[in-house]
Amino acid sequence: MKILVTGGLGFIGSHTTVELQNKGYEVIIIDDLSNSTEKVLDGIVAITGKRPIFEKIDLKDRSKVEDFFKRHQDVAGVIHFAASKAVGESVEKPLLYYENNIGTLVYLLKELSKKNKSSFIFSSSCTVYGQADKMPITESAPVKTAESPYGNTKQMGEEIIRDTCKVTPGINAIALRYFNPMGAHPSAEIGELPIGVPQNLVPFITQTGMGIREQLSVFGGDYPTEDGTCIRDYIYVVDLAKAHVVALERLLNGKNQDNYEVFNVGTGKGSSVLEVIKSFEKVSGKKLNYKIVDRRPGDITSAYADTTKANKVLGWKAESTLDEAMKSAWLWEEKIRK
Ligand code: WQD
Repeated sequence: MKILVTGGLGFIGSHTTVELQNKGYEVIIIDDLSNSTEKVLDGIVAITGKRPIFEKIDLKDRSKVEDFFKRHQDVAGVIHFAASKAVGESVEKPLLYYENNIGTLVYLLKELSKKNKSSFIFSSSCTVYGQADKMPITESAPVKTAESPYGNTKQMGEEIIRDTCKVTPGINAIALRYFNPMGAHPSAEIGELPIGVPQNLVPFITQTGMGIREQLSVFGGDYPTEDGTCIRDYIYVVDLAKAHVVALERLLNGKNQDNYEVFNVGTGKGSSVLEVIKSFEKVSGKKLNYKIVDRRPGDITSAYADTTKANKVLGWKAESTLDEAMKSAWLWEEKIRK
């Protein structure tokens, strides 16, 4: 069975491609290489021995999207990762984000609307909750005004899919609201490849541990949390990738209760920035050079998932601990710097 993975050479897309291949699916990857490289294909082959079909396509070009679906009429499902995802950049370049994250989604859904039946998994984010009032966060927590155009594209994306599914029974969709993905495949053949200075915490930590960065700035030590630093739900990228396969199979096997469903995908456990640093020091045996500085504008204090719905309805549960995920991130950092 053929599955299209857009953004399949990216961080989460490449790990999901591996898990799809492990389950026997034929994977076609569309990627515009704006935030990844074809070398990732070699990493996937090194793990599974199977080379996905890869087509370099800019999904903003509607004619190319139409042509793709004409040439691949037997695509049974789509997992849609392709999007711009840098929160800070989205504030400076909102139109780039609305064009790339929304325009391309509309073109994909137009193609799926032409098919009798299709399964669609959307890469969403816990960002849609903003600072939720209650922890842990359930799927019924209110979606708040986004703190950034990036977060807004995730909210709008969910609404566009919901409205489309209402009038297109042939499309069965699931939005997965990720918490904070981290780590790398245990083989260290694929992992996170931030371009330039990492925005996210974990790659900045491992690069500091490797001596590539001088010092980690901890953004804020005066939050109303136990140790004063922000709390997040750090989920191992392989567990997250497996959640995509479980969600896809729910749709392929017609187990969904509605043709648009939403699931939080996290571990259900919150970890503070200082706890993440401690985890790094434990698994690497290195002392991390860090300094507590001012808060980063737009950061929320705390976000971690209530995973009841994913565990009970989706039938998926994160298996890895923070230390195991951090160990994989460190091994990956050591591997790529060799
Ligand atoms: C985590 C914590 C920072 C860097 C973002 C997006 C979200 C998703 C994941 C795409 C925060 C602190 C960070 C640093 C630090 N992206 N931090 N020093 O902001 O929770 O989520 O990335 O889907 O949509 O919003 O992740 O890793 O940037 O920050 O102290 O150098 O680490 O303040 O508390 P975030 P993050």
